[in-house]
Amino acid sequence: MPSSVPYAVPIIANVARQLRPARVLDVGVGFGKYGYLLREYTDIWDMRNVDDYRPERWKTVIDGVDATAAYITPLHEYIYDTIHIGDITELIDTLGTYDLIIMGDVVEHFDKPVGELLLDKLYEHTTKCMLLTFPPNCRVNVSDNVLGNPYEAHRSAWNGKDFRRFPSAEYKLLEGRAALVAITKPPHSPPLLTPCFGVRRREGWKGLATSVLVRTIGPVNASRLATWLAGETRIMRA
Ligand SMILES: C[S@@+](CC[C@H](N)C(=O)[O-])C[C@H]1O[C@@H](n2cnc3c(N)ncnc32)[C@H](O)[C@@H]1O
Repeated sequence: MPSSVPYAVPIIANVARQLRPARVLDVGVGFGKYGYLLREYTDIWDMRNVDDYRPERWKTVIDGVDATAAYITPLHEYIYDTIHIGDITELIDTLGTYDLIIMGDVVEHFDKPVGELLLDKLYEHTTKCMLLTFPPNCRVNVSDNVLGNPYEAHRSAWNGKDFRRFPSAEYKLLEGRAALVAITKPPHSPPLLTPCFGVRRREGWKGLATSVLVRTIGPVNASRLATWLAGETRIMRA
């Protein structure tokens, strides 16, 4: 389906604030939640006045790709700058470079060698970071007729080891239900994969202190420090 489990959502919002990407590519947009989330935590979060709410004032380029034209709605046309309809393995060579490429629950829809080749190509098109989510322990069943859409069949299973060949790859299992991988391109620092929204925009002296901190040590380290000060998030069990 054009959706995925939501475990990574707050982490990806936090990563957007750490990376401050100028150009984003969302591969396999589906219903468009990551486009919406990234638009909110780039342009909308950085609004200075009400006029900045208008799309013509947005500064971040957010492009999307999806093989299933039927999933694209007027919402996508509003949120994304450009939506490319087609198979990413055929389109990737026609696309430019992006600070952040996100591919949420798509990699498992490729045969393993095709997925590996695609990851290499996406990495070439990435300037800062590539974010992937996928179901851990994915049950491969090519003949599964999900929504009658061949692009929805689960063709491969992935785990943390599959990404060790990249110079900087962080893998995080989220409540055992979703896997999140951040592949960062040196010399950029890997983002902190935590839902703690460390680097918030604040007014007054706290805002000044935060911006000095962000400028001095960078948003990733500032977020790390804020998380450390706030304490790691804990899952409370009954
Ligand atoms: C499980 S959905 C995920 C949607 C969204 N990224 C999310 O996490 O909510 C997978 C999406 O990837 C798209 N997709 C699958 N194979 C694709 C391919 N080869 N090229 C482009 N899109 C593809 C499907 O059409 C579908 O919209």
